Order: sequence, then structure tokens, then C-alpha cells
Amino acid sequence: MTLRQVIEQEIRERGPIPFSRYMELCLYHPELGYYSRHAEQFGKAGDFYTSSDVHAVFGRLLARQFEEIWQLLGSPERIEVLEVGPGRGLFAQDALDWSEKKFPHFFRALCYSLAENSPALRQRLQSTLRRHFASGKASLAPISATPSETGKSTLWTGDAWKGSTGKNAPGELDTYEGTTGKGTTSVVAKWPSFGRALAPGVRCEPVIIFANEFFDALPVEVVSSQGALRISAEKGHFVETWAPLSSKEMDFLDRYSVHPEGDERIEVPLIAQQSMTRIASCMERGILVAIDYGYTRQEQLAGRHRGTLTAFRQHSVSANPYEAPGEQDITAHVNFTALAAAAEQTAVYVHPLLTQSQFLMGIGEANQFADAFEECRLPQERAKVALQLKHLVTPSGMGESFHVLLAAKGVDAKDLAGLSGLSFASRP
Ligand SMILES: C[S@@+](CC[C@H](N)C(=O)[O-])C[C@H]1O[C@@H](n2cnc3c(N)ncnc32)[C@H](O)[C@@H]1O
Repeated sequence: MTLRQVIEQEIRERGPIPFSRYMELCLYHPELGYYSRHAEQFGKAGDFYTSSDVHAVFGRLLARQFEEIWQLLGSPERIEVLEVGPGRGLFAQDALDWSEKKFPHFFRALCYSLAENSPALRQRLQSTLRRHFASGKASLAPISATPSETGKSTLWTGDAWKGSTGKNAPGELDTYEGTTGKGTTSVVAKWPSFGRALAPGVRCEPVIIFANEFFDALPVEVVSSQGALRISAEKGHFVETWAPLSSKEMDFLDRYSVHPEGDERIEVPLIAQQSMTRIASCMERGILVAIDYGYTRQEQLAGRHRGTLTAFRQHSVSANPYEAPGEQDITAHVNFTALAAAAEQTAVYVHPLLTQSQFLMGIGEANQFADAFEECRLPQERAKVALQLKHLVTPSGMGESFHVLLAAKGVDAKDLAGLSGLSFASRP
């Protein structure tokens, strides 16, 4: 069965599905989804690249920042770095290798755990980080069961569903009850579920949670002045229909976004919000750093980022998210106003949003980005690395479109000011 047939069958059984469910199946169907099928999406040969594809300096600068955070937390004997959505593990490799080389005391304390849902990418992580897995320095965080393991369906958490039944014990799968159109059923959601890899006895250790380009890959609802998008199927084609907005969607637009005007389509990332709340609540004491391309509500009010859903295939934007389901990436820019509010719900302090440029400049400028140039012997090598660094830092590259959300729990907000990553932005 192709993914298109799987989706059509679900539509036949359940009626029109929300866009978030369509996007979830396209990206994360356990066998046929874009991220599940293979690990070749990333990099020059794939469909998109991320900061760690540009140069190892991204992971190295973050390792430098993690070491400072460890010191800020009192240099504990153990600290966990939990990376959410690590993909192939390039960032983890750069951060671990650099920590080992430059920050041996921090490295000794470090336990690096990786929360990755895709079976193909989990396999890839095992080979990318073979040495660190073998030494016990890195480990895979537990993932939720797949539908074939549970015998039940996975599901989106859209408005037709009543939400979590609250029956699950902490760390267990979330159970949702929803009306399928053919009666009420109990189904199991793999979203959002994040476990720390450490044994329960050591979970009280401080944690640094890191996510790069994770939230932009989570399914979103799409709304327009006609309502909330539903996907139906007719004669082998997906067809768009509209349902009334749920109270959750309406509330989201009122608080964190804008109401669509004319033919605008606005994303409502409810799953990203839930995921952030879940992730931030893994933290008893620690710091969370989430980096992604995105916007604030203020920018939307000023007329920008009103509709950012995009599909990518072989580094080209594809106008049609319904083309080749499972073979193209579908992504939406991150609403940082909503994400910050979700983190704040778990009683964490959220620092004012930074640009990637401000953050990396703050970390790297003290030693003039020596972390980037360590292996360069020839002037041409330096020139090439300088260009790669420029791409990560300058506004014309990834410097201004990418933002950094930093949240802290159990840490005095005043003490955070000492972190180099925050120093550049706080200058008068
Ligand atoms: C756009 S990729 C980013 C990968 C990597 N962070 C990077 O910068 O190259 C998003 C990643 O998040 C993973 N992911 C999505 N939902 C997840 C979930 N609920 N738990 C763990 N990983 C998830 C995907 O499988 C994918 O590897």
C-alpha cells in the first residue's frame, strides 16, 4: 500500500481529516512517512540542510555554551543533555567530540541522551555516534510505541478529539479518546512523548534540553477565513474542505497569532505547544535551548509570516503539500510567542527571544571563533570556513531568520546574564 492509499483509506473510514493528521501521516507514518522511511533527507544530497550540515562550529559553539551552563549550575557530578529530534546526530557528534577535546571536566559529568522517533534515524544515530554509545556517554531516550506495537491507531490531537484522558501514569503513552465519525474510540497517540534516558534514580540531576529545527517539523492545523482545513479524497485526489474552528484554535489565534484575512492561511501549531509543555516539564532544574526559524505575534501583526507552510523536495520549494505524500518534507515556521507561553506554563523563566546571530556572536566572539578554525592550515581553508561561519551568523544567511528560545528552571534569572550566548543581545 502506498502512503496515499493509507491516507485515502483513513479518510474513507473517518471522514475528512484535519491538516495536522495529514501532515503527521506524511512525515511520521511508522513505515511510509518522510522521516521514517530512510535517513537521506538531510544535507546536500537530500531535501534540506540544517546548521550542523554547514559546519561543525555550530555544535562546537553550543558545546561551549553547555559547559558554561554546567558551571552555572554548580558543576554537578552528572548532567544530562537531552537532545530532542536529533535527526542523524551530526550536532550530537560535534558537541560531544568538542566537549571531550576542550572541556574534559564537563565531558566527564555529561550523559547525552537522544529523543528521536524515526526508526531509520535511530539506526543512523547508532552508527554516527557508535563510539559514544559504546562508551555509555550517549544513549537513546525511550520512545513511545508505534501503532503496530500497540495494535491501535496513532492519532493527531486535533479539535475533534477530546484530548488526553489523563489515565496514563507519568512517562507512559498518552491515551486520547476521540470521535472518529463512526463512534467513540480510544486510540494511542505517539505525540508528544519525551522521556529522559537516565534511570529514574538519577532523573533529578540537572538537564540541558536542546532542540534544533525540531518544532518546525511538528504537524500544524491550518485555518483560513473559511474555517479549519480538512482533507478529503475524491477520485484519487486530495480535496480541501473547511470545518468550523474549535475553541482551542480560536483561543490560539486570539492569544498568540492573528485571525486570517482575505485568502490568508495561518498555521495553528497546537502540537508544538503541547510538545513544548511536555518537554519543559521533564526539567526539574536546568536550561532549555530551542533554535528554529520562526516569528513572533508582533511580526504577524505587522503583516509578516502570515502563512508559512512549505513543502521541500531536493532543496526546492514545492507549492503543493498534497504531491507525493511521504516523499517531501512539510514544515511551518515556529510561532515563538506561543512556544514561549507553553514553556512558561510549566513555571520556567523564558528569556527574551534572541536571534541565532546574537546567540552565536555572544559565544564565539571572545576567542574570535577559534572553534571554527582549529583544523585550518591553509589560507584557502580559513576562507572557506569563514564563509560557512558567515552563513550561520549573518542576516543574509541563517543569523536573523533563526531564533533562540532559552528557558530556565531552578536557576536565578539574574545568573543567566553571565552566559556568553546572552551577552551580545544585552549590550546597550
Ligand atoms: C527537521 S529534523 C531536525 C534534525 C536535527 N535536529 C537537525 O538539526 O539536523 C526534525 C527531527 O525531529 C524528529 N522528531 C519529530 N517528532 C519527534 C518526536 N515526537 N520525538 C522525537 N523526535 C521527533 C524527526 O524524526 C526529525 O529527526
